[in-house]
Order: sequence, then C-alpha cells, then structure tokens
Amino acid sequence: MKTFKHAIATAVSVAALLGSLGLAPMSASAAEGASSVDKGKEVAFDRRLGNCLGCHAIAGGDLPGNIGPPLIAMKARYPERQALYDQIWDATKRNPHSLMPPFGRHKALTDQQISDITDFIWTL
Ligand code: HEC
Repeated sequence: MKTFKHAIATAVSVAALLGSLGLAPMSASAAEGASSVDKGKEVAFDRRLGNCLGCHAIAGGDLPGNIGPPLIAMKARYPERQALYDQIWDATKRNPHSLMPPFGRHKALTDQQISDITDFIWTL
C-alpha cells in the first residue's frame, strides 16, 4: 500500500514536472497569437529589453525603480496615443536631459516593440 501511494505521488510529480517543462515552448507559441498589449507587457517587463521597471512602477511588475514617475492613468494624461509612442521612442525630444533611454532612436527596441509597449502602457 505504501509503495502504491509512493508510485502515485511519483507519477503526480513527474506529470507536474513534464507540465512545467512543457510550459516554456507553449508560452512561446502562445506569444505568436498574443495581443499587442500582452506582447508589449512582456517587452516592457523584460530586464534585457525595455526594462521599464528599472525606473518606473508599473501595475503587475515586481521590484520597480523610482528614477521615473509611476506609469498610471496614461490614457488620461496621453489622450493622443502618438504622443505616448513618441515619448517612449525618444524621451529626449521632450526633455533633452532625460535619463530615460531613447529606445527608438538608439534602436534598443524595434518600432513594432515600441508600438506594442505603447498599447500596453496606454492600458495603465
Ligand atoms: C533609466 C531610467 C528609465 C527607464 C529604463 C525608462 N524610463 Fe521612462 N522615464 C524616465 C524618467 C526619468 C522620466 C521622467 C521624464 C523625463 O525625464 O524624461 C520618464 C518618463 C516616462 C514617461 C512619461 C511619464 C509621464 O508622466 O508623462 C513614460 C510614458 C515613460 N517614461 C515610459 C517608459 C517606458 C515604456 C519604458 C520602457 C520601455 C521606460 N519609460 C523606461 C526614466 C526611465
């Protein structure tokens, strides 16, 4: 009986392990069909890509920095989506001394990635 229980426990944890192993490729292919908001969030939160959390508090993001202002109520403050896009593309246009990297001008992110991030940030 004891070994039977153990066998079940083992089978369950193997299934869990296989499930978690299966997760990585699954989420990668899920990204194909993901909305621009989901893709933008991923790029914005990725420490090697947007790393927006390095300087901004953003809802849903962990361990934010506070060099920049919290990104909240964005649609109210940026009724024009293009103005928000431009700010992310090159923050030095509005503030030549900005500490925010000019992601578009420096080609740190593609125009598509910045467009996706804009869609995400606009939901905040
Ligand atoms: C190195 C720090 C830093 C990083 C990284 C950074 N920002 Fe900023 N950001 C700032 C600062 C500082 C400001 C304040 C305005 C200025 O100085 O240009 C700002 C301002 C902004 C604003 C305007 C906020 C407002 O209240 O009008 C937006 C939108 C914004 N950042 C979005 C982003 C996004 C999206 C990312 C990631 C792709 C990002 N930032 C990455 C520092 C940063």
